[in-house]
Amino acid sequence: MRRKILTVVGARPQFIKASVISRLIEGEYNEDFQEVLVHTGQHYDNNMSAIFFEELKIKKPNHKLVLNTKTDVSQVSKIIFLLEQVIIKEDPDFILTYGDTNSTLAAALTASKMSIKLIHIEAGLRSYRYGMQEEINRVVTDKLSQFLFCPNKEAVVNLRKEGIVDNVFNTGDIMLDSFNYFTLKNSKFNVLKNNLSYNDYFFVTVHRAENVDNIDRLHKIISALNFLALNTKIIFSIHPRTKKNLNKFNIKVSPKINCIEPQPYLSVINYIFNCFAVITDSGGLQKEAYFANKPCITLRDETEWKETVNLGLNKIFKPDELEFSKDIISKSILEMPTNFPQIFGDGNCGRKILEILKK
Ligand code: UD1
Repeated sequence: MRRKILTVVGARPQFIKASVISRLIEGEYNEDFQEVLVHTGQHYDNNMSAIFFEELKIKKPNHKLVLNTKTDVSQVSKIIFLLEQVIIKEDPDFILTYGDTNSTLAAALTASKMSIKLIHIEAGLRSYRYGMQEEINRVVTDKLSQFLFCPNKEAVVNLRKEGIVDNVFNTGDIMLDSFNYFTLKNSKFNVLKNNLSYNDYFFVTVHRAENVDNIDRLHKIISALNFLALNTKIIFSIHPRTKKNLNKFNIKVSPKINCIEPQPYLSVINYIFNCFAVITDSGGLQKEAYFANKPCITLRDETEWKETVNLGLNKIFKPDELEFSKDIISKSILEMPTNFPQIFGDGNCGRKILEILKK
């Protein structure tokens, strides 16, 4: 029997993750599953959304929700409201969702209220900071899920601590599947843009609400980057939330920093592949740096990817303390080890998940 999976995506990293399973369902699992793709409309700018569908060759969403919302509450509630109607029409066997965004939470709540089996990919991650929206989204989604696919051992342990043990699987990280899919067969990853040289620049992104909605923290982050730019090349890919707040708070980015628009996936991978190190507050980029064997500086108070920190390959700089530590960012990278053990699985996460669901 061909089972129907209704996949809910809405934010940039979810398009990347979803492309792996979508590609497999369109191909070798076509007789086992049918996928209905729902785009919640959480990210709507062309370079935050449509470009990923084109580049990753993801099929067009079967349903695209129109949100026109300004706050997180209205975003989540409107997705729930609109999703219910789609689910009634489609009558899926499973709802599949990824990660920790508002779209994830909305999909989880809707699945639960409508008694449809929920699959969560990238389950079990914890920062244990409940002031962070994503943490609430993760905890609630995991609690409501019937199938939980974890990217690493630590995530399985986190779930066990919360009493979640049934149908929990360590299948490795789905982003590694995607990373390998594009990099292993693509020889274009040594093409450098913007007159850059290999190993000669930092690739930077900052977008987390707790960093960029807070004037003091955003100011400290930009001051540290401006300081770093005195001696090093920096490519700073600016998220719309960050751009909006830099204007609102009148915080000036040094002209020495090369600011660019949010980039398509392959371009980001290319920038990471060729950089000296990554500086970010994104969960996804921390891993992509690791996959590309590049050191990472994480501008947060903690990270869900603790193993990368324990291995010394990812260093946390707390934004509130940056004014005291900004001059050691470069030095700390030079002190990092150069060996990147395989901690995110073998790059076959998508297939493992579909095999489990098939059974
Ligand atoms: C969301 C996720 C975060 C994820 C990130 C990836 C939540 C709570 N957060 O954060 O976990 O890492 O996506 O990028 O779901 N905006 C635009 N154009 C767009 C999209 C957003 O201008 O295409 C604006 C929105 O109007 C909003 C702001 O950017 O003011 C933030 O967007 P939002 O979707 O709330 O969260 P992100 O910061 O992107």
